[in-house]
Amino acid sequence: MSLREHEYKLDRETIIVSETDEKGKIVYANEDFCKISKYTKDELIGKPHSIVRHPDMPKAVFEELWATIKRKEVWRGVVKNRTKDGGYYWVHSTIYPSETVDGKVKYFSVRVKPTTDEIEQAEAMYAGLHQS
Ligand SMILES: Cc1cc2nc3c(=O)[nH]c(=O)nc-3n(C[C@H](O)[C@H](O)[C@H](O)COP(=O)(O)O)c2cc1C
Repeated sequence: MSLREHEYKLDRETIIVSETDEKGKIVYANEDFCKISKYTKDELIGKPHSIVRHPDMPKAVFEELWATIKRKEVWRGVVKNRTKDGGYYWVHSTIYPSETVDGKVKYFSVRVKPTTDEIEQAEAMYAGLHQS
């Protein structure tokens, strides 16, 4: 992790919401998502959610995320994301699988400020996963 990267901390009122199609392409992003990520709605809509992926996040975390939501279960985890300006922000993320009336799979994600403990635990765990 570069020391020059700036951390953007969420405040307790911030709730980052997005919705994707079955492949993880963003179809909805709320104002807080734009505010924190520094992307405009136009830049986010239609892009894969990996647009905010941070290189410190191990691949295995996302494999487990996708396996969980494809089983139609809710996934919860602590995620480090990258901002457009090269900074980062930590979130506590909950992803809900859902289906439209015509049978299309969609996913919703709601992210709030994690606790310092949650960030520290995730950082340690992800550093270990990178080595394996
Ligand atoms: C609803 C939803 C929200 C997601 N949110 C994030 C996110 O905030 N950050 C992230 O890096 N990946 C997120 N992902 C996972 C990405 O789709 C992707 O799997 C991940 O960024 C890893 O990129 P890759 O699959 O291209 O390796 C989300 C997926 C879904 C379905």
